[in-house]
Amino acid sequence: MRESASAQELLDWYDRNARRMPWRVGPDARRLGVRPDPYRIWMSEVMLQQTTVAAVKSYFETFTARWPTVVDLAAAEDADVMAAWAGLGYYARARNLLKCARAVANDHSGVFPDTREGLLSLPGIGPYTAAAVAAIAFDRPETVVDGNVERVMARLHDEHTPLPTAKPVLTEMAAALTPQERPGDYAQAVMDLGATICTPRKPACGLCPWRKPCAAWEAGTAAELPRKLPK
Ligand code: ADE
Repeated sequence: MRESASAQELLDWYDRNARRMPWRVGPDARRLGVRPDPYRIWMSEVMLQQTTVAAVKSYFETFTARWPTVVDLAAAEDADVMAAWAGLGYYARARNLLKCARAVANDHSGVFPDTREGLLSLPGIGPYTAAAVAAIAFDRPETVVDGNVERVMARLHDEHTPLPTAKPVLTEMAAALTPQERPGDYAQAVMDLGATICTPRKPACGLCPWRKPCAAWEAGTAAELPRKLPK
């Protein structure tokens, strides 16, 4: 019998292999009790939605240097924010960023709500961002599902139902694995695993902390999953 996957194996891997990103709190600081800044986590998640980590980094540094807090961003001129966003694409995100910053500044005294529901009530924050910020910034046991997470779950469970039909079942699988301890690190660990090991093509199964419990590894189907319905 294959043993089922545990979040702990992945967290141990993450502690050794987490990618450094300007909005992340590293392991040393975390041991000292440092928590991530919700403003920075929110900004990074909005920027990362249709853009790669590599492309986001310099924009993130520019934005947070110029507008260090959500109250600073709320007071910015629309045109300045749109100009700073130039090159990142999907400009609705920049307009939503400002709308959300002003709601936090004006209606929440500059403090981000610390639950998924509270975050979801803000303009310009959808289910993905609400779950990601609740988990990563506030360590709420929310399940964060992006394309990386879908791929990891489809392989771990050798799920052959094609996307997007498989979305609810893959989300269920991700939720079932989400731990009560360190759910924010866990969310980032699954995304890092999908980005660096459990890659769309030629996954590096030999380096994977979940190789033993992986049903697709056993079946030899990892590289074929997830299946997708033709668009
Ligand atoms: N993609 C979106 N959010 C991410 C995060 N916090 N870590 C890694 N990849 C991501």
